Amino acid sequence: MTTQTATDLAVRATGVGKVFPSAGGEVNALTGVDLTVAAGEFVSLIGPSGCGKSTLLRLIADLDSPTGGELTLYGKSARQARLDQDYGIAFQQAALLPWLTVAANIALPLDLHKWPRARRDARVAELAELVGLTDFVGRYPDQLSGGMQQRVAIARSLAAQPKLLLMDEPFGALDEMTRERLQSELARIAAETGAAVVFVTHSIPEAVFLSDRVVVMSPRPGRITHVVDTRPDRERDDDLRESPEFFARVTAVREALHGAPVQRANER
Ligand SMILES: Nc1ncnc2c1ncn2[C@@H]1O[C@H](COP(=O)(O)OP(=O)(O)O)[C@@H](O)[C@H]1O
Ligand SMILES: [Mg+2]
Repeated sequence: MTTQTATDLAVRATGVGKVFPSAGGEVNALTGVDLTVAAGEFVSLIGPSGCGKSTLLRLIADLDSPTGGELTLYGKSARQARLDQDYGIAFQQAALLPWLTVAANIALPLDLHKWPRARRDARVAELAELVGLTDFVGRYPDQLSGGMQQRVAIARSLAAQPKLLLMDEPFGALDEMTRERLQSELARIAAETGAAVVFVTHSIPEAVFLSDRVVVMSPRPGRITHVVDTRPDRERDDDLRESPEFFARVTAVREALHGAPVQRANER
């Protein structure tokens, strides 16, 4: 195995901490976070509310700065990675601009960086096809279902061909069936584009289905307690969801989250 240097790693956090000042004293949102995400790797962050998942993602995205430790993306500072458009972001609410069409919403990151018209339009068409919205590019967000809006947000996050995707509960507001369909689409897109993904979720099966590794976090102070290897040795499709290996990994993550083995029905 070759040694990975910092520039090969999509994310490298070393001893990262975040303290928020507050009226009632300081809030220790994150402490001693050591985490690496390899190029092309899919890593989920899971844990109870308030354990610092969103904070960690926001630090990686340079939407806020750590108060301790070191954070690099492909060997660069988070700020430089942001300026270089090294990552795309998708959060729980699709956050589309209602006065723009689907095509124009997808094109936002491209317009921001002044892509030439022809190249921009070709890229938008390609992305609409990737997320199955070719017939809807002329529609407005309020003419779309929640699942379709979220697909627009995912297409937008992919627009500038980022090497890294940062996603904070992107499927949190969707019904279970739509959610599973979008999980399968995201798994396919991540495999096709080779992008690394850092994905925040509350759902154990969602984390296990999508991820190569699941990072389990715990609150007060927010920190990493376990890292569970969940890389499947088969394709990520519906058969995987029903396989014994899948259930075994779900159980492993659940036990890590609860800090102790879960008592099974047949052991009572
Ligand atoms: N801007 C902020 N100011 C003060 N405290 C914050 C801020 N953002 C988050 N926190 C606190 O940091 C902790 C972690 O929050 P967060 O990262 O949102 O958790 P999660 O996404 O895992 O639910 C919580 O205690 C939260 O109240
Ligand atoms: Mg959160």
